[in-house]
Amino acid sequence: MNTAPLSIRGLVKIHPGPVCALRGVDLDIPEGMFGLLGPNGAGKSTFMNIVAGLIEPTAGQVHLDGVDVVAHPRYMRERLGYLPQDFGFYPDLTGRGMLEFLLKMKGVTGPKGRRALADELLERVNLTSAATRKVGGYSGGMRQRLGLAQAIAGNPRVLIVDEPTAGLDPEERQRFYRLLAEMSAGRIVLLSTHIVDDVSTLCPRLVVIHTGEVVADTTPSAARNAVDGMIYEGFVADAQLPEFGANHRVTSAVLVEGRTNRVRIFVATDAPLPSGFERSRATLEDAYLVLMRCPRHEVPAALSHAVPVTVEGGA
Ligand SMILES: Nc1ncnc2c1ncn2[C@@H]1O[C@H](COP(=O)(O)OP(=O)(O)OP(=O)(O)O)[C@@H](O)[C@H]1O
Ligand SMILES: [Mg+2]
Repeated sequence: MNTAPLSIRGLVKIHPGPVCALRGVDLDIPEGMFGLLGPNGAGKSTFMNIVAGLIEPTAGQVHLDGVDVVAHPRYMRERLGYLPQDFGFYPDLTGRGMLEFLLKMKGVTGPKGRRALADELLERVNLTSAATRKVGGYSGGMRQRLGLAQAIAGNPRVLIVDEPTAGLDPEERQRFYRLLAEMSAGRIVLLSTHIVDDVSTLCPRLVVIHTGEVVADTTPSAARNAVDGMIYEGFVADAQLPEFGANHRVTSAVLVEGRTNRVRIFVATDAPLPSGFERSRATLEDAYLVLMRCPRHEVPAALSHAVPVTVEGGA
């Protein structure tokens, strides 16, 4: 019997179109930060929305602590904090006014009333000094922190944050993630992103999702190790890059000083290396790009096969 706090089985979603957004997703999600990494259109938001109980799956099951939340969406909603990908704000409200409004919509109040709870939450996300400023003047990072404040109101068991750092500068991203990490103790946090760095530092567990399928269920270090020894780096003139790319599995190419490219390639076999290429320590980004760019049969089994599920107590 499966004991993961959040268990997903055979999740399929066909949107009108028809667009098959999820093609049979099985996941066992422990407490702590869990990363959902994938490119645009992979199915991340569809997955999050189904887990949140906002849309129904075409097929499949979602269980939270043993309760079937597709059949009983209220059970999930009462335990859920959600920061959707497109979170709407009223620009003319102050941060505090907006938060109080959202708490009211959510039906959450504190022992000392809603205003006191709003102030407490603003403090937690470092927005106390901006509480009386209009949200319209907030930076992207401040808005997202306000969104996080409403999501954690009521101490939810499950916190879902869907691409929360899109458009934030690196400093605000770090600040947001520090907050999120603080809030992950004792709860399930699902974080979707297309930024590899976000999951590499934050998430002890992650899945890579691509065209509606989980193509890796792993940890940052296991994913790196799976391709280590198979990543090589060298330089290729810009004009030669298309031809080079046709003959090698390029995982990244970065133009240096507008002239030449620093190129990383994936080489799984004993094939001869292009001249000047040397083995380089694999990164999680390499592992991700191998999953995105290589045909399935070339992807090392250790990377493509799901890790055996172990439910670690709150790790
Ligand atoms: N309501 C809908 N109706 C029709 N198609 C949809 C709907 N919602 C999503 N899709 C399609 O389903 C697929 C998965 O979309 P989804 O938004 O879940 O991906 P995503 O991984 O969240 O992408 P992004 O990184 O761009 O947010 C896409 O092809 C998308 O166009
Ligand atoms: Mg999305």
